[in-house]
Amino acid sequence: MRISVFGLGYVGSVSAAAFAGDGHDVIGVDVNEDKVRAINAGRSPIVEPGLAELLRAGVEAGRLRATTDAAEAIHGSDVSLICVGTPSQRNGSLDLTYLTRVCEQIGTVLRDKDSYHVVTIRSTVLPGTTHGRLIPALEATSGKRYGDGFGVSVNPEFLREGTALADFRQPPLTLIGHNHAVDAAPAAALYQHLPAPVYHTSIRVAEMLKYVSNVWHAVKIVFANEIGNLCKRLEVDSHEVMDIFCSDAKLNLSPYYLRPGFAFGGSCLPKDIRALQYRGKEMDLELPLINALLGSNRLQVQHAIDRIVETGRKRIGLLGFSFKAGTDDLREAPMVILAEALLGKGYSLAIYDRNVSLARLVGANKQYIEEQIPHLSRHLCDSVDELLDRSDVVVVGNADPEFPAAVERARPDHIVVDLVRLPLDFSRVRARYDGICW
Ligand SMILES: NC(=O)c1ccc[n+]([C@@H]2O[C@H](COP(=O)([O-])OP(=O)(O)OC[C@H]3O[C@@H](n4cnc5c(N)ncnc54)[C@H](O)[C@@H]3O)[C@@H](O)[C@H]2O)c1
Repeated sequence: MRISVFGLGYVGSVSAAAFAGDGHDVIGVDVNEDKVRAINAGRSPIVEPGLAELLRAGVEAGRLRATTDAAEAIHGSDVSLICVGTPSQRNGSLDLTYLTRVCEQIGTVLRDKDSYHVVTIRSTVLPGTTHGRLIPALEATSGKRYGDGFGVSVNPEFLREGTALADFRQPPLTLIGHNHAVDAAPAAALYQHLPAPVYHTSIRVAEMLKYVSNVWHAVKIVFANEIGNLCKRLEVDSHEVMDIFCSDAKLNLSPYYLRPGFAFGGSCLPKDIRALQYRGKEMDLELPLINALLGSNRLQVQHAIDRIVETGRKRIGLLGFSFKAGTDDLREAPMVILAEALLGKGYSLAIYDRNVSLARLVGANKQYIEEQIPHLSRHLCDSVDELLDRSDVVVVGNADPEFPAAVERARPDHIVVDLVRLPLDFSRVRARYDGICW
């Protein structure tokens, strides 16, 4: 393949050298003449293990060269990878100056190019940037329409500095965001030999994924450090703790608890977070991440209340009351807080949860229900049909296997507010559907 790589910094020079190493014909472009000179002389413009050797081999084999001339690079390639920087501005917003300028340069050259050219964004950009800024810049300067003359894909990169080449050969995954299959073809071909899954998705999802990954990595580091600081004060070996913690691939390092939805509750998580917070306070130890958890969790309950209030309807049915399906435990159930808030605002409630109804009659929770939440238990109803009759908004509070069919039975004039993302067949849902955070 004939590839031009715009921006020869950390991402661009690694990509350019690796693709040349794979046998492609690569032209690197940078506004910085020193970097261009370095690459043409077979020297690495950055410190990265193994990169200098790979660059030199590419240059000597005649498969890699660099230029400051964008036109030469565009005319000599079929696909352009954009790897210029997207730094922070003083207020934290993304500086798109370099990226927009490269798109304008590419667009200007595309005006005179007859063959279809694919522009692949490797720089990290927020969702909406490609459609809102980059495609318009390419269209305005090329005089061509996106999808007709040129295509665009988003191919974020997941390399770590210091092990970038090894990561390039063994990435965790390859991600290609595009709207037209033809725009994905060059990137798919570039990575087809790698031992990693390839995900084809929309441009927006691809843009978002890079941020989600980086923020998650930061959360992991900050969490591990807070746990480490706590362990040291408590005279516990944090590395032994985390080694064992990380060996749990069922709940700890797994997709579990990583699906957006409703707030947590139950008898353990809130109580144990509070206990750890209190111990930290006693030891004058600041734990900003751990201390933020309960506040963020409360906000998620408030988001649900806001969505219900925004419907403008007053008769609310709660499908599922305990904090998760298959339990009658109502201790610190976020649905209880939600129900109390709605009652306080004068809404009428109908609650259906067969586990809670059963517990009201016989279970160990009978006393809790009678003594702690009598004001709520009187709103329990005996069947899904009764709940549907008594409500105009149906709020799904847990993923009981009975509930997808219940939502399908909702009337066309019902509004369903789903807090758990039920597995629904939308061709059968007649009600208006709203997910809490999707
Ligand atoms: N560094 C990383 O490990 C890493 C990893 C993943 C993603 N990213 C993302 O990739 C992008 C690039 O990061 P980087 O660290 O390689 O940046 P960098 O600052 O090292 O390199 C950017 C290069 O672009 C060049 N440039 C600027 N304007 C140009 C233009 N008009 N034409 C040609 N070249 C131009 C600059 O001279 C510079 O050499 C950023 O969006 C970054 O967030 C970086």
